[in-house]
Amino acid sequence: MVDMEPQAERYCRLLIGLSLTLLTLGIGYLVVFQHYTCELPSDCGRPRSGVGCFPVLSRERLVLGLTLQWLFLTPSRTQCMSDPHVAGLCGSLRDASYTRVALGHALDEAAAFGATTTRIDLREYELPMFDPDNRDVGDADRLQRELRDADSVILASPMYHGSYSGVVKNALDYSGFDEFENTTVGLLGIAGGGFPTGTVEHLRSVCRALNAWVIPHQAVVPNASSQFEGGEFVDEKMADRVAVLGKRTVEYANIEPDPPSFRSSENVGGTD
Ligand SMILES: Cc1cc2nc3c(=O)[nH]c(=O)nc-3n(C[C@H](O)[C@H](O)[C@H](O)COP(=O)(O)O)c2cc1C
Repeated sequence: MVDMEPQAERYCRLLIGLSLTLLTLGIGYLVVFQHYTCELPSDCGRPRSGVGCFPVLSRERLVLGLTLQWLFLTPSRTQCMSDPHVAGLCGSLRDASYTRVALGHALDEAAAFGATTTRIDLREYELPMFDPDNRDVGDADRLQRELRDADSVILASPMYHGSYSGVVKNALDYSGFDEFENTTVGLLGIAGGGFPTGTVEHLRSVCRALNAWVIPHQAVVPNASSQFEGGEFVDEKMADRVAVLGKRTVEYANIEPDPPSFRSSENVGGTD
């Protein structure tokens, strides 16, 4: 991720704007004020050079123009407009998890819209129950790094007892403002029953406390056991809701941060 402050981002946009203006002026100068080679036959009655003549951009000038574009725009583009990076955290450890399948679908869509993606499969992490006296254990550092590297994070959780899973909660407790402040977050909930909204509503509340920017669209999949066949959604509309979540994580990856929530300013003690 290109970890840029909003001010640096504005500066970069300004740089790109200036580069584009310079480029346009440069090419304009080459095309308008230089003498042209005329493609018209000499007896066409029009001058062989000057304003009345159809301009032909010579190969040398074209190469010069493209070189200028490369010189001016490529560095600022790489710095300011790198592909967004989306991390998806799966909150189920079950081998045949529907949450993991749905999350994969959202991440595939994010990739289709130009993002690089990381799948955080917590089965592969050593993360004991969070103990504030022992924060730097197991794969805590890896998890934090992967979250920090993301412009957007998808939190995908099964519904457990009307809320999200303890696996997600444990991962969140290893994280904090450093991982989530001003990060775009997409919420995905999967439930065995028909009323899955508690999962994403509770996660939305937690994300506000962390000053994350939570995407308004949220995807919930009820009656999970009848929604998938061979690792694919059976219902196109459901697949579409999840896909849109993936797409939004790319679209809003670099949205300007909102002011911090009042809740977050009272959310002290995380690092005491
Ligand atoms: C401890 C536990 C609590 C659950 N609580 C609920 C619940 O409150 N509502 C519900 O609809 N499903 C509940 N379920 C069912 C899960 O949401 C469902 O099995 C889901 O598919 C699990 O996600 P997974 O397939 O990714 O593991 C619960 C499952 C477990 C294991």
